[in-house]
Amino acid sequence: MFTVTRPIEEASLARWAQKVKRSQLQEILFAAAKPGIISFAMGLPAPELFPVEGLMKASRDVLANDPRALQYGPPFQPLKSQIVRIMAERKVSCCEEQILITTGAQQGLSLLVRLLLEPGGEILTEQMVYTGFHQVFEPYEPLVLSVPTDAGTGIDVEAVASLLSKGARPAFIYAISSGHNPLAVSLTHAKRLRLVELARQYRVPVIEDDPYGFLNYEEVALPPLKAYEEKWVFYVGSFSKILTPGLRVGWLVVPESLITKLSAVKEASDIDTNTFTQRLISRFLEREDLDKHLSRLRREYRVRRDAMAQALRAHFPATAKWAIPDDGVFFWVELPPGVDTLALLVDALERERVAFIPGQAFSIDASNKATNCMRLNFSHSNPELIMDGIARLGHMLRSCSK
Ligand SMILES: Cc1ncc(COP(=O)(O)O)c(C=O)c1O
Repeated sequence: MFTVTRPIEEASLARWAQKVKRSQLQEILFAAAKPGIISFAMGLPAPELFPVEGLMKASRDVLANDPRALQYGPPFQPLKSQIVRIMAERKVSCCEEQILITTGAQQGLSLLVRLLLEPGGEILTEQMVYTGFHQVFEPYEPLVLSVPTDAGTGIDVEAVASLLSKGARPAFIYAISSGHNPLAVSLTHAKRLRLVELARQYRVPVIEDDPYGFLNYEEVALPPLKAYEEKWVFYVGSFSKILTPGLRVGWLVVPESLITKLSAVKEASDIDTNTFTQRLISRFLEREDLDKHLSRLRREYRVRRDAMAQALRAHFPATAKWAIPDDGVFFWVELPPGVDTLALLVDALERERVAFIPGQAFSIDASNKATNCMRLNFSHSNPELIMDGIARLGHMLRSCSK
């Protein structure tokens, strides 16, 4: 006798899960993850710049000498003090008791949202943000208060002020202060000051998502919001873009009083952050020179950024608008209204074998769909591929506009 397994019916899933679908965009990008495609789509670091030698040495050392590295274990204390020192370089003064080590920045976001947001509650965010953040808040089905944003100056803080002054009290404000994903913009000193002033005045926490703040290409890099406001900014950091994403280690800097609750929420999710990779990173930081590694990343990524700017200038139509980013790994390109970048992506993949992310993937708000925009990553491809891929896209854009 055998039983026939029937698929689980949608109706037996939670209400929010019934609505979850892979987006049309994900379907396209899934198809695009094939060899031979020049991809400007994902925010991937350059694998040839991973500090493999140093990680190999550290890894051998940890495995040979630390039997606890492969065991369940509490957060690795030495890594916390190293994170405190890394934060001090960015002018954030904090202590080990304020650090929670997480499985990447993504888990940091997820834990904070879990801690702060009631189902059906209210959140405040820009109209255009990182898609991983959409995935974090959507299950709570919150009321989303969205404020205008643009690639020139970023979040409209006066719109935030206006909402708060009219009585809105969201569970949090979500902000990407440097090398914004997807808009590539970094907030000015004045905007940083104003945003934290509002957080303090209205007692609304800001979740500062900052995986790109260490990747800056100009002389002056502003400190994160956390350096401007100790209490009301909850900082989310990551080793993904500065070491490697595969190790899956990030961190939070939050008021000490929140650590116990956040740890409990985290325990329910994955018990511990990978014990081995915490120790591996810690040993790496102890033995190797992180500043030197970061300088190398900045130097190499600056070359790639400049190559992309040069290629855009040479190959994109004069009607395309974009700015050279000071930080991060993206360009945001605005094409004339009427150009549909989702349709363009289908053609780009088929005809030119180039991938990017259409603007609408990031949109939170129907009033700003950014259907004529695209996000282009410059960290993952070398300058030659960047030149080639942008030339192919430019060729397509010019032939479309004829
Ligand atoms: C803005 C932003 N936040 C968070 C993350 C997640 O980073 P992690 O790999 O540390 O989980 C990313 C990844 O690309 C990102 O762009």
